[in-house]
Amino acid sequence: DINLKGKDFLSLAELSSDEILFLIDEAIKLKQMQKNGEQHPFLKGKVLGMIFEKSSTRTRVSFEVGMYQLGGQAIFLSNRDIQLGRGETIYDTAKVLSRYVDGLMIRTFAHSTVEAFAKYSSVPVINGLTDLHHPTQVLADLQTIYEHKRRLEGLKMCFIGDGNNNMAHSLIEGAVKVGMDISIASPEGFMPNEEVVKNAQTVANNTGSTIQISVDPQQMIVGADVVVTDVFTSMGQEDETEERLQVFTPYQVNDELCKHANNDYIFLHCLPAHRGEEVTASIIDGPHSVVFDEAENRLHAQKAILKNLL
Ligand code: CP
Ligand code: NVA
Repeated sequence: DINLKGKDFLSLAELSSDEILFLIDEAIKLKQMQKNGEQHPFLKGKVLGMIFEKSSTRTRVSFEVGMYQLGGQAIFLSNRDIQLGRGETIYDTAKVLSRYVDGLMIRTFAHSTVEAFAKYSSVPVINGLTDLHHPTQVLADLQTIYEHKRRLEGLKMCFIGDGNNNMAHSLIEGAVKVGMDISIASPEGFMPNEEVVKNAQTVANNTGSTIQISVDPQQMIVGADVVVTDVFTSMGQEDETEERLQVFTPYQVNDELCKHANNDYIFLHCLPAHRGEEVTASIIDGPHSVVFDEAENRLHAQKAILKNLL
């Protein structure tokens, strides 16, 4: 029996395979209820506090709408407005907010910040993106893959781009939990975090997944059922934009590269996207792209998380 009440949601590595599959199933059910116009006020009277230290379109709106649809409320707390941004400690902020809200979502820079919030909060803490992980996004990605492919186990996912980043890390962690093979193509110097890969390899040994990492996108994409990319320059790396554009040019997801994927591959991108940089318009706006289903599923996947944690 799966019970996530009171738990935090900081990275997919902290969930079991069954818990991840359960949340995907819950997300699909909530999506159906929403489409059918069935009310589902599972969180009536509950309030989610949302702290944003970085910009957001999807995460903010989908969490906020999700709480309303579940019968609760969400409060948007920008770092520019709350005392945290003026130096109030995480300890005091977490303790105080825990007295008001039933859950906290945080988008920030260092992953240790959400870990500290989780440590000092008495309510569940959800990671809405850190430099290291983006687990709510990848839960929605897995839901999207399942909806389009009707299975997860045994599929091959290929991520092309910045391996040393939140999306690549959460994709690795998520893929191995559900028995998907994962390949990563990144330039030298932008390889995935070694600890993330080491821990994922241990999981993969149990679930039968494989993890491949290389500098060669053509080699990594061969046989992929799912092709994923992300921006070359993530939030907080704006100073490196020029340099990154150069290094990552051979890692653009375009028609030529995707010829090497399976014929019926689907393309995912968490968005925001830069057409002509990490992906061509022909791919992201083409017949293989499911990026708007993926964006929509943020809402349903997060409602599944909220319903079960809060
Ligand atoms: N994909 C995603 O997290 O988008 P936002 O930055 O708009 O929230
Ligand atoms: N890797 C990107 C994801 C944006 C949702 C970033 O961190 O900016």
